[in-house]
Amino acid sequence: MKITVIGAGYVGLTSAVTLAYLGHQVTCMDTDLAKIDRLVRGEAPFYEPGLDELLAETAGSMRFTADYRPALADARAVFLAVGTPQNANGSPDLSQYWKAVDMIMDCMDPAWAALLLVNKSTVPVGTGDKLKKRLHFRGFGQRIEIGSNPEFLRQGSALVDNFFPSRLVLGGDNSARHTLLQIYRPLLNEPHLAPDYIRPPANFKKIEVFQVDIRTAELSKYAANAFLAMKISFINEMANIAELVGADITRVADVIGADPRIGRLFLNAGIGYGGSCFPKDTQALKYLADVRGYDVTLLSAVIHVNNQQPYRLVTKLDQALGGLEDKSICLLGLTFKPETDDLREAPSLPIIQILVDSGAYVRVHDPIALDKARGLLPQNVVCCSELEDALQGADALAILTEWPLYQRLDPLAVKKLMRGNVVVDGRNCLSPDLFAAHMQYTGVGLNTSSQAKTSEASAQDLYRGEYPLTYIAQS
Ligand SMILES: NC(=O)c1ccc[n+]([C@@H]2O[C@H](COP(=O)([O-])OP(=O)(O)OC[C@H]3O[C@@H](n4cnc5c(N)ncnc54)[C@H](O)[C@@H]3O)[C@@H](O)[C@H]2O)c1
Repeated sequence: MKITVIGAGYVGLTSAVTLAYLGHQVTCMDTDLAKIDRLVRGEAPFYEPGLDELLAETAGSMRFTADYRPALADARAVFLAVGTPQNANGSPDLSQYWKAVDMIMDCMDPAWAALLLVNKSTVPVGTGDKLKKRLHFRGFGQRIEIGSNPEFLRQGSALVDNFFPSRLVLGGDNSARHTLLQIYRPLLNEPHLAPDYIRPPANFKKIEVFQVDIRTAELSKYAANAFLAMKISFINEMANIAELVGADITRVADVIGADPRIGRLFLNAGIGYGGSCFPKDTQALKYLADVRGYDVTLLSAVIHVNNQQPYRLVTKLDQALGGLEDKSICLLGLTFKPETDDLREAPSLPIIQILVDSGAYVRVHDPIALDKARGLLPQNVVCCSELEDALQGADALAILTEWPLYQRLDPLAVKKLMRGNVVVDGRNCLSPDLFAAHMQYTGVGLNTSSQAKTSEASAQDLYRGEYPLTYIAQS
């Protein structure tokens, strides 16, 4: 099928290459000329595991353009995957979306076949109905039908999620859902079609297909993100209580997560959720309810806990260092999670700002996001491309993203490079036993006082084996 994807961002581009791999002829269109230039040269405009390989592999079935007319010519289905960021009042900013819709209508040629216009962008409930009215108003009611296919991929494993989604949500009337089913058929048939370098998740069984009306599809996306955000804020609140009562949140999460009704995923305490989805989608859902006069108590609390969480790490640094002024602080990890270069709404950004405002000297390292970060950080923040440089002479180290590279850090090597010995692990990704044995270690909701008592012995046990072979020691 001839398919056009509007928007070559994390969702649009990864969806486009997936659809091309499934056998469709795909045109990916974006108004960002620099992005299209890079794609035409065969370069991925952002980091996503497997994307470079898949772009090369699907080159014969993919076209990239910055013009609407050639993008739309003869398309049978058009997926809208433009950004839907957040306005200052929390409402979704749909300007990119409506601009794209208007451009599609302006460019439609009477000679072209009818098409299905599919919302892949996350849009507020009721947007599909508004779109239908707009199409009718402009006389396209018969020629353009609409569908909703909300996206649930996770950045960092977008292609795994595209090829092995837990579910597909196909919203629309019978005819729209039929076309969407045709598009995804190669994913649903046996044998499952996927490149061999994109492996199914361990728990992958089958793709559930949900055929629903458009409003249900639209709300499902917001509900999914709100629920996941709630799990994170819940465990963070429990972690904050664990710190008050001397319990260990990781073990608490293991205990409650063993209950299949709860599940262990998304129960890792830390500095809060970030990224381009959870913050804006929880705000958008709250706004949607607010304007209808419904007080979303639970969701408001989820947002409130998350807004406070990054600052708790700053307080820990402040207390451990006896003040932040003139202290040298090494921050490891800038992105909101590992395996992505996306810095949108990353908790690292407010943390860095408050440290700088408090007079600290901040040095940062991130395995892939440093270039993107430079323009976003206060000027006096030092971006280090070598981990050792970031650690050198630091009074304190804080982990902000649980990149695997940091999880393998050797406390002895770290201690040797640093001037001080304060370690605040904002993601609970270091070994508390090892670090508490050598440094003044604090995690999130960890019972480090009891760890400190027992850690010397357990650290010695651990050192007896080969572990830890560390990044620094190996390099
Ligand atoms: N990023 C995720 O993990 C994720 C997951 C699920 C759903 N979503 C949703 O998918 C949508 C896209 O998210 P994203 O992260 O890919 O955004 P993005 O910002 O990475 O990409 C959006 C792209 O659209 C392009 N664009 C903007 N206006 C345009 C227009 N009028 N015509 C053509 N192109 C235009 C931009 O240049 C950009 O390249 C959002 O609604 C988001 O909420 C995102």
